Amino acid sequence: MSGARRVVITGGAAGLGRAMAEAFLAAGDRVAVCDADAQAVAAIRAAHPEMLAEIADVTDPAALGAFLAGVEAAWGGADIVCANAGTGGPAGRIDEIGYEDWHHCLAVNLDGAFLTCRWAAPILRAQGHGLILLTSSISGLFGFPQRTPYVAAKWGIVGLTKALASELGPSGVRVNAICPGAVEGPRMDRVIAMEAAARGQTEDDVRRGFTEAVALRRFVRAEEVAAMALFLASEGASAITGQALVVDGHTERVA
Ligand SMILES: NC(=O)c1ccc[n+]([C@@H]2O[C@H](COP(=O)([O-])OP(=O)(O)OC[C@H]3O[C@@H](n4cnc5c(N)ncnc54)[C@H](O)[C@@H]3O)[C@@H](O)[C@H]2O)c1
Repeated sequence: MSGARRVVITGGAAGLGRAMAEAFLAAGDRVAVCDADAQAVAAIRAAHPEMLAEIADVTDPAALGAFLAGVEAAWGGADIVCANAGTGGPAGRIDEIGYEDWHHCLAVNLDGAFLTCRWAAPILRAQGHGLILLTSSISGLFGFPQRTPYVAAKWGIVGLTKALASELGPSGVRVNAICPGAVEGPRMDRVIAMEAAARGQTEDDVRRGFTEAVALRRFVRAEEVAAMALFLASEGASAITGQALVVDGHTERVA
């Protein structure tokens, strides 16, 4: 895979998805993103008119399918498919979690990834090359309390990665997950506010707890996660598959 690769990213109009989209664009690749947030899609279209950007919710198989079919029609395939769309889900003890909230968190994080991978797999298999990149989390490697839906979904992403890597490896297709730690930005600000309310702590205490649980004693930056995506898509990573690669400053304990 070299030259102008064809890169598809779900949840790609903001946050980590946008950082990855912009990193691939800067590397000279072609990029298509979908996102459920119409305003974010309008903003990324305005910033990058060369990018294919559509409104599609990954929990809506018809809308996601229409976006992916459009990509396939425009490009005749894809080289790098990033199942990135995710949501933090609710915070609270398991007996405080509503079934609808549980299911919505699983639907965005896990069902969306399943649908994206199900589209990508036959295309990449037929080409005999390609990369599927899933966004898990440090929550896919540790058991953070009061976040059962998100933790279960992100461990599920690691399982999906392992199984699919074994399924597609013989066809020359690689599958990896990135596990970011807490990323600086509005999404983490929302998570901190939610966890502070659930734990009865101040937001400063929750933020300090997250930071002190990490060897580098800081949050990571979206660009640092995008750099890992670019590495995994590079020739240098040609033997790396079935892995959950962590970009977190080294989490030493559950905050
Ligand atoms: N921010 C962090 O600290 C952090 C840490 C670990 C993992 N992650 C994971 O990284 C991924 C990206 O998160 P982020 O931090 O960029 O969050 P974000 O909220 O900044 O951006 C997520 C993007 O996905 C879109 N999105 C949400 N639900 C969607 C849906 N149903 N269909 C399509 N698009 C949808 C949002 O509109 C938004 O543009 C997620 O899978 C998240 O779980 C984030």
